[in-house]
Amino acid sequence: MTAPQPIPYQGSKRRLAPIILRHLPGDAATLYEPFVGSGAVTIAAAMAGRARAFVVGDTLAPLVGIWDAMLHRSALLADRYEAIWEAQHVDPRAHFDAVRASFNRERDPAQLLYLVARCVKNAVRFNADGDFNQSPDNRRLGVKPAALRRRVDAVHALLAGRARAVCADYGDSLRAAARDDVVYLDPPYLGVSGGRDGRYHQGLDYPRFVADLAAANARGVSYLVSFDGRSGAKTYGPDLPESLALHKSEIHVGRSSQATLNGRTDETVESLYLSPALVARLRADGVALRDRERVRSRPLE
Ligand SMILES: C[S@@+](CC[C@H](N)C(=O)[O-])C[C@H]1O[C@@H](n2cnc3c(N)ncnc32)[C@H](O)[C@@H]1O
Repeated sequence: MTAPQPIPYQGSKRRLAPIILRHLPGDAATLYEPFVGSGAVTIAAAMAGRARAFVVGDTLAPLVGIWDAMLHRSALLADRYEAIWEAQHVDPRAHFDAVRASFNRERDPAQLLYLVARCVKNAVRFNADGDFNQSPDNRRLGVKPAALRRRVDAVHALLAGRARAVCADYGDSLRAAARDDVVYLDPPYLGVSGGRDGRYHQGLDYPRFVADLAAANARGVSYLVSFDGRSGAKTYGPDLPESLALHKSEIHVGRSSQATLNGRTDETVESLYLSPALVARLRADGVALRDRERVRSRPLE
């Protein structure tokens, strides 16, 4: 069964999720995903029964609103999406602009779901005032309401009653995690969000991030970090510092079909770092840790 993905989010870890899952301990109490986005790892982990409870968090409040609605009011969310989606037929471009303007006033989660589904490359973009400013993809109308409803219902069935959604900084989840929990961190990449490029509503404060990981190490917290990778010869950002004593695996993600079409041969490589406490738990579980991994499925584009 393939994992449902109600929020089509650029940067989703859906293809990497099977590899990330292999690095979760067998006895995880709560899985925290504090940079949740579309929550590919949480959804895959819930499907595979890899944790007993889940906490998803993000600082983008309307995105957390989508998660909260999937957990508690999934039928209403699907109804609202359907109404917004169906109203676009007369003039899809004008409708997108009207929904975007309304979202920028109201911050309505259902409107964000429609904007993400309809915008270029499913990539949210925000200006310096925090307003959504991505354009529509004029070739597509966004996922159909019936399909969206199936996905939202599937996530509700998987997670309702054992997950909570929090609008919070990642640091809160790192500090809340106990030794029998595990935290999966997928921050905005430095290579694409250092400075303000609007790719996410908020960039990463790298020195604070490193200090927070060091504090989590001192408390014996098990965590995994997806961090800046490289594509071909181009590297996007530094390695996490040696002082954190993390285990690093390079995940070879493969060539995108776009790169193949353009005749490029460069391959994307993503880094996955494991905390010392997690490495000890995995070794106790008999999990073999590798320095290189390879994603088997083709990219979805
Ligand atoms: C790379 S995306 C995560 C993608 C996710 N792994 C998925 O599968 O879709 C990073 C997310 O972190 C959020 N974010 C940025 N800064 C944050 C912070 N300080 N604390 C929590 N979330 C943050 C962004 O809104 C964005 O949704």
